[in-house]
Amino acid sequence: MSRNRVSFDLAERLDNAPTPKLTVSLLKRIFSFLTPYTPYLVASFSVIVVSAGLGVAPSLLTGAIIDKGLLAGDFALLCQLVLLSLLLLVVSSGLGLLEGWLSANIAQGVTCDMKNKMYAHLQTMPHRFFTDTKQGEILTRMTEDISGVRSVITQTLASTLRNVSTIVITLVALYRTNWVLATAGVVLLPLFLLPTRLAGKRRWTIAREIQKKRDESNQMLNETLSVSGQLLVKLFGRENDEARKYREINGEIRRLSVTETLTGRLFMSTIQLFSSFSPQLLYLLGGVLMLKAPVGPAVTVGEISTIVSLMTRLHRPVDDLLNIHVDITRSLALFERLFAYYDMVPDITDRENAVSVGRLQGQVTYDRVSFGYRPDAPVLKDVSFRVEPGRSYAFVGSSGAGKSTLITLLPRLYDVTGGTISIDGVDIRDMTLASLRRNIGLVSQDTYLFNGTIAENLRYAKPEATDEELAEACKKAHIHDFITSLPQGYHTVVGNRGLRLSGGEKQRLSIARVILKDPPILLLDEATSALDSISESHIQAAIKPLLKSRTSLVVAHRLSTVVASDRILVVDGGGIAASGTHSQLLECSPLYKELFETQFTVPGKEHDHGTTDPSCDGRAA
Ligand SMILES: Nc1ncnc2c1ncn2[C@@H]1O[C@H](COP(=O)(O)OP(=O)(O)OP(=O)(O)O)[C@@H](O)[C@H]1O
Ligand SMILES: [Mg+2]
Repeated sequence: MSRNRVSFDLAERLDNAPTPKLTVSLLKRIFSFLTPYTPYLVASFSVIVVSAGLGVAPSLLTGAIIDKGLLAGDFALLCQLVLLSLLLLVVSSGLGLLEGWLSANIAQGVTCDMKNKMYAHLQTMPHRFFTDTKQGEILTRMTEDISGVRSVITQTLASTLRNVSTIVITLVALYRTNWVLATAGVVLLPLFLLPTRLAGKRRWTIAREIQKKRDESNQMLNETLSVSGQLLVKLFGRENDEARKYREINGEIRRLSVTETLTGRLFMSTIQLFSSFSPQLLYLLGGVLMLKAPVGPAVTVGEISTIVSLMTRLHRPVDDLLNIHVDITRSLALFERLFAYYDMVPDITDRENAVSVGRLQGQVTYDRVSFGYRPDAPVLKDVSFRVEPGRSYAFVGSSGAGKSTLITLLPRLYDVTGGTISIDGVDIRDMTLASLRRNIGLVSQDTYLFNGTIAENLRYAKPEATDEELAEACKKAHIHDFITSLPQGYHTVVGNRGLRLSGGEKQRLSIARVILKDPPILLLDEATSALDSISESHIQAAIKPLLKSRTSLVVAHRLSTVVASDRILVVDGGGIAASGTHSQLLECSPLYKELFETQFTVPGKEHDHGTTDPSCDGRAA
């Protein structure tokens, strides 16, 4: 069962994760997602390199325009060079467009593949994963993290290639133009880079603080504006406190954002200031070389202009490359988080020789079954019982005794840690999960409905069900009249998680859903919340046809259910403490008697048992 705890481990692993290391295998794995897009990649990279090459042309042409056109007085050549410049500009922007299209194709393709793969993978994860992992985390992995991959491809990867090509080609062009001035320009580079880096760092820190505050604000909105959260706020009268808290967070965001804008401006001005410093210094140096102290090759006006313009082209790529480690670290962390999710091994899967079973008879046997959510805290120990086909067994016990746990083992939401559960004599682990679960219907303690119409929710059990079948099932579940009384009937939208329906209505709907599925084995986990006697009798009437001719394991919280069952098992201390019929247990099990007196009372109904023998009060185990 150690693999069961994959999600705990994962959370720990990610929290304490050191800065990810770039390894060959990690790179290989990242690029494996790109492989299907190789033609696009090759095309995109070629376009980037050609674009970078074309990028230096205007600077070189400007030099030629000055020297060979303007200064040499060759008007025809001047016109030709200007025309060529214009043409190259058009080609460049065309290539830019093409590159955008190519990289969008790659990025969208990869993220789409990753999302599909992740969603399908998450569908195979066991129930435990979803109970143990924060919902927000799963959603973040599916949405933000995978979208992050898009910017890794379109930005980190593409811009690195673009920057490297630009730098190499620009340097070649610089040195071919005039090596003395080129060297001077390169030496002057840090003058521009240092101040911008300092301003950039400050800006980054503020951006991070803002992000943190935004997360806080989102978390708060999520919690306090959700249906249940709002209910809590109202019932505890915390409206003003929450509003004040929100004002505080929002005010902080405002303050930080103003600072960020200011720093941004400062950043831009620094860049502008220093980017104009270096041309001026180059003009000065060019002037010295040309007019005062000729060293190295002769310098022309056009060459000085070319060098200045090429140097300006270098600033951005060099600065970006110096920052690339931040992007790379972030990208690697992103991929590590995603890969950790892909690598989770679902531990409840089909065995190699699992058989796909047809419709089962429904003889359910628990043989010395043990189970615990964690190894150190067993919930069930050596539980054994057998339910013959078509019989109905009720499980009763105090809250937390393990009744729900006991029945969730049957559809293998969790696997037993000891003993076996078999149906019709076959270990459930030897059946395929799909065929096992086809044979079992579960009405759980808290009913879940998707936010769709009533009909859509019902058809979740049987997509091909006709309207008549839906009505038939709902009549059996005693909910048809209620549904038809709604203005939209079966097309009524049930709201978020079915919150527009009452607890009793939801439960009857979920009963109708299981009636549609028509499984030979039924698991019913009655809601613990007390219903009024009318709802109670509705539910009772709904349950009756459900139990008929099916093997049923019912966790009972209501007397009517208990009495209707063939046998009652009292769950206590991780095992079955007593079993028998209602009257037998009242006689022989003090625990049952106590449960009966405390749990099975319906509001508005008086049970005479509670008063006939007051001496039994509080004598239970
Ligand atoms: N997903 C889970 N992870 C860890 N522990 C759990 C989980 N679900 C239940 N437990 C624990 O297992 C024990 C048995 O819980 P279970 O839900 O089976 O009780 P129950 O008998 O159905 O109670 P109730 O009558 O209140 O529904 C409890 O101590 C509970 O805290
Ligand atoms: Mg329960």
